[in-house]
Amino acid sequence: MTHDTTRQRLRLAMIGGGQGAFIGGVHRMAARLDDRFELVAGAFSSQAERNLATASELGVDKTRCYTNHETLLAGETARKDGADVVAIVTPNHLHFPVAMAALEAGLHVICEKPMTLTLEEAERLARTAAASQRRFMLTHNYAGYPLVQHARELVAGGGLGSIRHVQVEYVQEWLSETPADDNRQAAWRLDPARAGAAGCLGDIGVHAFQLAQFISGQRVNQVSAELSSAVPGRSLDDNVQALLRFDGGARGMLWASQTAPGFENALSIRVIGERASLQWAQETPNELWLRPLNGPSQRLTRRDDALSAEIGRGVRLPGGHPEGYIEAFANLYQALADDLADDKHSSWLPGIADGVDGMRFIAATLASSQAAGVWTSLSQKEVPNG
Ligand SMILES: NC(=O)c1ccc[n+]([C@@H]2O[C@H](COP(=O)([O-])OP(=O)(O)OC[C@H]3O[C@@H](n4cnc5c(N)ncnc54)[C@H](O)[C@@H]3O)[C@@H](O)[C@H]2O)c1
Repeated sequence: MTHDTTRQRLRLAMIGGGQGAFIGGVHRMAARLDDRFELVAGAFSSQAERNLATASELGVDKTRCYTNHETLLAGETARKDGADVVAIVTPNHLHFPVAMAALEAGLHVICEKPMTLTLEEAERLARTAAASQRRFMLTHNYAGYPLVQHARELVAGGGLGSIRHVQVEYVQEWLSETPADDNRQAAWRLDPARAGAAGCLGDIGVHAFQLAQFISGQRVNQVSAELSSAVPGRSLDDNVQALLRFDGGARGMLWASQTAPGFENALSIRVIGERASLQWAQETPNELWLRPLNGPSQRLTRRDDALSAEIGRGVRLPGGHPEGYIEAFANLYQALADDLADDKHSSWLPGIADGVDGMRFIAATLASSQAAGVWTSLSQKEVPNG
C-alpha cells in the first residue's frame, strides 16, 4: 500500500502589503523560501485599484482579492479551500481588530509588531488567542537569526555566568528630517491615530526590547525613560533612552533612535555576564563575538556544524555564504509551518506573550517619560499565553 506523503502548503491570506508597501513583500519572500506557504487571498490595500493591481501582480485570483478584512474572512471561511493563516502587515492601528476577527473566524495569525495600540488591547487579544486554539506568531524577526538563537542558548547554558548588564541599541537615520509628503511609510508612523502613542518606541524600540529579553533570558520589570523628538513639530517620539532593570538582577540600557544620520539599521546588543560577554549586530549577522574574561575574543560564525540541531534548521547555506534578513524572517515562517504540521510549539518562536510584554514595555516607558523618568514597573498582570 502506498501513502500519499505529499506535503500540503499552508494557505496564506494577507491584509496590507499592497504595491509600494515595505514589510508585506518581505513576508511574502519569507513565506516562499521553504515552499511551505501559498498566498491565496488578500485585502492588500484600502485603495480599490491598488488592491486589485497587487493581486494581479502576485497571481492571486481576483475573486479572492477582497475589499477589507471582514469580507476576506467571510469569503475564505466559506470555502473548502479557504485560507488557513492570515498575515497582518498593515499600519499598527489595524493589528488588533484584524487579529481578533481572524482568530474568531478560526484562522491562525501572523501579526506585525507592535502587536496592538494599547496594553488593554494586547491583554484582550491574549485571552482571545488562548480560547481560540489557533496559533499566533508575532514577527519579531530578529529572533530568527541563527546566531541570535545561539547567543540565547549560550546564556541559558550558563556559559557566561550570571548576566550583569544588557546594552541594546536600535538606531536609524531615516526620520532625521521632515520626510517628503509622498513617503507613505513615514506618514502613518508620525500619526498617533495610526501608529499609537509610541513613535520610535513602538516602531523599533520594541524590537530592541524583545531582543534583550530573548537573549538574556530575563524579563524587564522596571524602566526609567525619556522620550524625545529631535525634529520639531512631531507629536510622537523619534528617540528613546531607557534604563532597564531585569527580574534576574541584570541592569540594562536601551537606546532607539530614528534621527541618527549615517545609521541605516544599526540594531546591536551586548550581553555581559560574570565570566564572559556576547556581542551581535544585525548589520553583520553572520558573526557573534564571545569575549571571555581574561581570554582572547572568539568570532563565532554561522556554521551548522557548530549549532544545535534546532537552530541548524534555520541555516540554509554553509558557513561563509552570507545569510541575512530574509532568511531570518523565513525562519519564523518555517518554525510556524513545522509547529502546525507536528502540533508542537517552538519555544523560541515569538508569539502573544512577547506581544503583551512589548505593550507592557511601551506603557511603562510612556508613563515613566511623562513622569520625568521615574522608575516605573511593567505590569505583572496574569494573561493567558496563547
Ligand atoms: N518586523 C519588522 O522588522 C518590521 C519592519 C517594518 C514594518 N513593520 C511593521 O509592519 C507594519 C507595516 O509597515 P510597513 O512599513 O510595511 O507600512 P507600509 O505603509 O509600507 O504598508 C502598509 C500597507 O497596509 C495597507 N493598508 C493600510 N490600510 C489598510 C486597510 N484598511 N486594509 C488593507 N490594507 C491596508 C497599505 O495600503 C500598505 O499596503 C507596521 O505595523 C510596522 O510596524 C515591521
